[in-house]
Amino acid sequence: MSNWVKKLFIERADLFLKLMNQRWTKTEELTNGIIKVLNNCGITSGNLLDLCCGNGRISVHIAKKGFRAVGVDISKTFLEDAKKKASEHGVTNMVAFLEGDVRRLKEVVGRLSQPFDVVVNAWTSIGFYSEKDDRSTFKQARELSREGAILFITETMHSEYLALKFTPTSYTEIDDIMLLENREYDQITSQMSTCWKFYKRCGNDLVFIDKAEILHHIYSLSELSLLLKKAGWDMMTCYGSLSTLQAMNPLTSLNIVAKAC
Ligand SMILES: C[S@@+](CC[C@H](N)C(=O)[O-])C[C@H]1O[C@@H](n2cnc3c(N)ncnc32)[C@H](O)[C@@H]1O
Repeated sequence: MSNWVKKLFIERADLFLKLMNQRWTKTEELTNGIIKVLNNCGITSGNLLDLCCGNGRISVHIAKKGFRAVGVDISKTFLEDAKKKASEHGVTNMVAFLEGDVRRLKEVVGRLSQPFDVVVNAWTSIGFYSEKDDRSTFKQARELSREGAILFITETMHSEYLALKFTPTSYTEIDDIMLLENREYDQITSQMSTCWKFYKRCGNDLVFIDKAEILHHIYSLSELSLLLKKAGWDMMTCYGSLSTLQAMNPLTSLNIVAKAC
């Protein structure tokens, strides 16, 4: 595991959890879109695999629509929160959250017997490791899925966007925490390095809490389509948003729908 993954998602999971919780509010719309696409493909129920599930927002919302979900994540803190949220939403019996590394996906979920009908990878949860690792993860997901299963890569940053709109600095406030992000993007390698600094607001002052130096690869649509093809998934279409099913353009996020071939 790279150092920044360990720092941001394990050691300082308490801080990242605040950002994750913000995303819960928009997740019902997202899962409604996922369900619409699945229904159009003739899938109305079944088993969903949530790769890098975080605190379970996709798994929990999809379980509320009648799908069984298995979420895999390396962060114990996120998974504990996911289990708590599943209980609050009354879907404990529809979800399983497994701690493990998606690069060893088959080992982690191997003991479950049912093949998956749907696989989801949400919120730029790719490009953290090597291209070979990402390909292997999707290949393992394919091997655990039935023919005709549907894969969603959703709410994902892509290099077409960065070519048009690169924002070197931004900040986000959540409760009394402020996150300041300073980014550098190398167009040649498509590597994004971001320094995340967390501060706590104390009156008019900001008190530094911690920082993480993040480095990850940002894929283009064609790179991802090729990677998926090599992993056994045929790209069917892509959207700018799964909530609205609007078409993708360079300034929207990337939402791929692919089919197990
Ligand atoms: C940006 S978050 C997205 C979380 C979730 N998909 C969502 O949409 O809310 C990235 C997630 O990837 C997880 N992650 C990173 N590396 C991983 C690995 N090797 N295996 C499993 N999970 C991993 C992190 O713990 C974190 O929960």
